[in-house]
Amino acid sequence: MARVMVTGTEGYLGCLTAQELLRAGHEVIGLDTGYYKNGWLYPGLELAPQTLAMDIRDVRPEHLDGVDAIVHMAELSNDPIGDLIGDVTFDINHVGSVHLATQAKAAGVERFVYMSSCSVYGVADGTVDETSPVAPQTSYAKCKALVERDVGAMADDAFSPLFLRNATAFGASPRMRFDIVLNNLSGLAWTTGKIAMTSDGTPWRPLVHALDIAKAIRMSVESPREAVHGAVFNVGSEDNNYTVRQIAEIVANEFTGCELTFGDPSADNRSYRVAFDKIREVLPGYTTDWDARAGAAQLHRVFESIDLDAETFTGRGHTRLKQIEHLLRTSQLDPQLFWKNPAAGAAR
Ligand SMILES: NC(=O)c1ccc[n+]([C@@H]2O[C@H](COP(=O)([O-])OP(=O)(O)OC[C@H]3O[C@@H](n4cnc5c(N)ncnc54)[C@H](O)[C@@H]3O)[C@@H](O)[C@H]2O)c1
Repeated sequence: MARVMVTGTEGYLGCLTAQELLRAGHEVIGLDTGYYKNGWLYPGLELAPQTLAMDIRDVRPEHLDGVDAIVHMAELSNDPIGDLIGDVTFDINHVGSVHLATQAKAAGVERFVYMSSCSVYGVADGTVDETSPVAPQTSYAKCKALVERDVGAMADDAFSPLFLRNATAFGASPRMRFDIVLNNLSGLAWTTGKIAMTSDGTPWRPLVHALDIAKAIRMSVESPREAVHGAVFNVGSEDNNYTVRQIAEIVANEFTGCELTFGDPSADNRSYRVAFDKIREVLPGYTTDWDARAGAAQLHRVFESIDLDAETFTGRGHTRLKQIEHLLRTSQLDPQLFWKNPAAGAAR
């Protein structure tokens, strides 16, 4: 069993990942600065780790004493935040992540599992795999590619980074995000009975359930060093490559009576289909358990059980950009996204 630090444990994927590792018997230490601390949708966690309230940019080797592996997912997690504050996105997502890896290496941490994204592929013809050139289109995606490059170069006999290029996540998490496509469309279908797509929905989007990401992370931590040292893996499955139109249709089908309309071709030109053979071959036994249909049905059950209302769905608790804007507007965060009064954490 390993002693694992998970950064971003108070986020959408982090809370599920920490639970997956704890259930498997690993010792888990969380680390999170708490931007979305109040973002609970429902109390669905049986196991949660002790979590250091700390910014990744402040981590020093002494904070990593005795840690075998770091799963690093504490970053600004989408394109709209990157568009709002591109320089801070680079400061946290690129410089901050390389800083964390450097501290980890200095502290003797052996494995560094980085949460990259299929968005590094940008616009591509046909199907991309891990050997395809990257063509990131946004600040968020450019930072992912830069961290892969810089932390990949740090690999040596004592330090094994690996890079999980996750598809876009979906599915229920107690620390829900409604700003990712399937979750957003499901919330719209439930609270308004209407999905009015502004685009024609032709671009491809690979999807993966949050729990299938957590499983890939656990297996990355548990696999022998020689299988994962310096490796890049796409995380998802071919049968979860959908067009946005298909995702909308699956959701509209799940939420009976939902009205669905499409608009003109989109300005957002990301479009790619992704191959996922490598993760199945190198992490034996890895398969995804969920598809979009099962994910929409799961969300439907959650919305019913908590009687999700429009205010909760559209509020800042579950939309990352709105919460960051709120914390900046109320001067709780400084322009570099450090807390002005870190001691006020309990009140957030
Ligand atoms: N959700 C997806 O669809 C998806 C897909 C591919 C990759 N990823 C990556 O996975 C990771 C987790 O995604 P998520 O959806 O759980 O995001 P999230 O926004 O829900 O969680 C990120 C967490 O990191 C914390 N954090 C951010 N900056 C920090 C800093 N400077 N110091 C300490 N903590 C900080 C936040 O407080 C938050 O709790 C991210 O790196 C994201 O880019 C997510």
